[in-house]
Amino acid sequence: MPKEKADPMLIAQLSDCHVSVPGEEFSNLYHTADRLTAAVRHVNESVNVPDLVFLTGDLVNSGLVAEYELLREIIAEFKFPTYLLAGNHDDRDNLRQVFPDHDYLPRHGHLRYVVDGWPLKLICLDTNLPGKPQGLLGPEQLKWLDAELAAETRRRVIVFLHHPPFATGLVSMDGMGLVDAKAFAEVIGRHAHIERVLCGHLHRSIQRLMAGTLVQTCPSTSHQVQLLLGEKNELATVKEPPEYLLHYWHDTDGLVTHSDYIRDYTVAWNVKDGVQD
Ligand SMILES: [Fe+2]
Ligand SMILES: [Fe+2]
Repeated sequence: MPKEKADPMLIAQLSDCHVSVPGEEFSNLYHTADRLTAAVRHVNESVNVPDLVFLTGDLVNSGLVAEYELLREIIAEFKFPTYLLAGNHDDRDNLRQVFPDHDYLPRHGHLRYVVDGWPLKLICLDTNLPGKPQGLLGPEQLKWLDAELAAETRRRVIVFLHHPPFATGLVSMDGMGLVDAKAFAEVIGRHAHIERVLCGHLHRSIQRLMAGTLVQTCPSTSHQVQLLLGEKNELATVKEPPEYLLHYWHDTDGLVTHSDYIRDYTVAWNVKDGVQD
């Protein structure tokens, strides 16, 4: 149930699940479906109970209907309302075809929408540029964003989009960036009430102040991109743990972000019992 303005609120952000059907090369390499299944179980069983879950793009690896059907099966286990964003690996028409009951998704055009009824206004954008790894919002969507931001006079706002609007220093990934990042930054810079811009795509946790707000990226539920800063234009993935973000909102303290590994870490020590086995 939506909460009153004074109540704390917890948002789980999972990203870049890249679900692939069993037997496919990508699935064999990363076991993406199994890892998302583990992520859903982890979030469901965590002591930190989210109010909402956002999956910030690259939901599946090849945009296939069969992949979305598998994704649908996996995320049906979530105990929390779940919202989907498109990334560069997604196919917007196949996505909406397999999720007709996710009625916040527009039936035509960009998969952009507002989630309302919460202490924060939550705006989700669609950066999918069919056939390309880069992202594009386009003038119409930027105009819509500007109007949605201007219309909100009471609450602070989170903007979700797959491609981060800044160069990260990971050269290979920056080549697959948001084409109209400058135009996006101009819109963001016009509004003082944006609490955070939350992205995926980088398969790492990265932050940057930009246009008067904090922009950050969420790691993948599956595989991470190697931290390789500088001139080297090489793309590699590493076996760093699957991870997701928890954004904790409190009216007086603002939005505080925690990262949580999707792995069964047991308690090493606590006040009550001391050292654990
Ligand atoms: Fe990705
Ligand atoms: Fe991506």
